[in-house]
Amino acid sequence: MRNFDYMTPTRLIFGKDSIVKLPDVMKPLGKRVLLTYGGGSIKKLGLYDRVKSLLADFDIVELSGIQPNPKYNPSVSEGVRLCKQHDIDVILAVGGGSVLDCSKAIAAGAKYDGEPWDLITGKAKAQAALPIVDVLTLAATGSEYDCGGVISRTETNDKIGYIDPHLFPVCSILDPVYTFTVSAKQTAAGCADAMNHVMEQYFADDTTLLNDGFCEAELRALMANARKCLDKPDDYTARAEMMLCCTYGCNGILSLGNSYSGWPCHAIEHALSAYYDITHGEGLAIITPRWMRHILSDRTLPRFVKYGINVFGIDASLPDRQIAEQAIDATYAFFESINIPMHLRDVGIDDSRIDEMAHHIAVNEGLESAYVPLSEGDIKEILLASL
Ligand code: NZQ
Ligand code: ZN
Repeated sequence: MRNFDYMTPTRLIFGKDSIVKLPDVMKPLGKRVLLTYGGGSIKKLGLYDRVKSLLADFDIVELSGIQPNPKYNPSVSEGVRLCKQHDIDVILAVGGGSVLDCSKAIAAGAKYDGEPWDLITGKAKAQAALPIVDVLTLAATGSEYDCGGVISRTETNDKIGYIDPHLFPVCSILDPVYTFTVSAKQTAAGCADAMNHVMEQYFADDTTLLNDGFCEAELRALMANARKCLDKPDDYTARAEMMLCCTYGCNGILSLGNSYSGWPCHAIEHALSAYYDITHGEGLAIITPRWMRHILSDRTLPRFVKYGINVFGIDASLPDRQIAEQAIDATYAFFESINIPMHLRDVGIDDSRIDEMAHHIAVNEGLESAYVPLSEGDIKEILLASL
């Protein structure tokens, strides 16, 4: 078991109507608030009006229109400008992972004198950030409980994931009711994203029985609850468990003491989203089974056998190779069963830029040190198999 140094300082307030605590959470953080949100779903939900009335005593500046796969230009740049212009004390992010991630980049950029992009690429290290509070409306990324963010820069086909301990939200308000209106497409994509977060931690060289058990339970719970959410979008219990599963997915708690896998599927997907602006969870669902098939070998076989038996209940008396193959097929079949498009062509990606993307990933993502090292050629094969 590896050494670790772990802390998640984020307060979670979970459950129906937990929003009533928002003013008390915000008060100690300051009066001048940057309220960030996306394309309007929070207005349809009535959440925008609720937040504005709860925070009637605060001075609120707004940044709206944050897009999925949040963009450095204009959203991050504009948010930083607003924070500096209005001397903002705290950012309140209301929305899904994209709004949260954009807000994190703004929070660090607001306390930095140079070009905020340098904080995202790692060229510079943040020394401070504005505090962030969020009200989550989509279960998927785990951004509400981690210090990571993913920002895209369309001009350069970059989509960069980074972590910075300054960027843990101070508090995340998690009311599953706000996720009742999430579309079937985004519900399924969110499930695939969270499942892949777990898999990126599960498929590693050194793991523990404890972590394996956490991960396997997460995967089973995500699949069971996603089906229920799709059948009945206002099933509170299913939406609630889905939300908590996703919250646990990304802050490392599922892999304390494990070796690091390199998060290969995310590395590959980031390029797909960067070049084609596709939905992150759909890209992951397409890549994951192809990556699995690509890395299945005598060395990785025991992991796939364990995964197949404990996650999908595959008959343990079958030959190992058969269990592993069935586990990969079951992974694909699950994503297909929740109506995720399972080919790159289905999401508008053809073979014209495969070489360019494989090169971009190999150069920028460092997958030569992944759980199973991936060269540019390997990445290209996985992408071609995903077409
Ligand atoms: O923009 P609005 O109108 O709010 O609509 C959004 C958006 O169109 C909509 N939506 C959100 N809540 C809703 C809702 N629609 C109806 N009812 C609601 N309650 O859903 C659409 C997608 O929203 P988005 O925030 O993009 O989705 P998600 O939460 O899946 O976030 C995806 C982004 O997070 C990054 C991804 O790369 C991607 O850019 N990730 C962030 C991570 C992190 N910070 O740790 C880890 C992940 O691996 C992931 O990479
Ligand atoms: Zn993800």
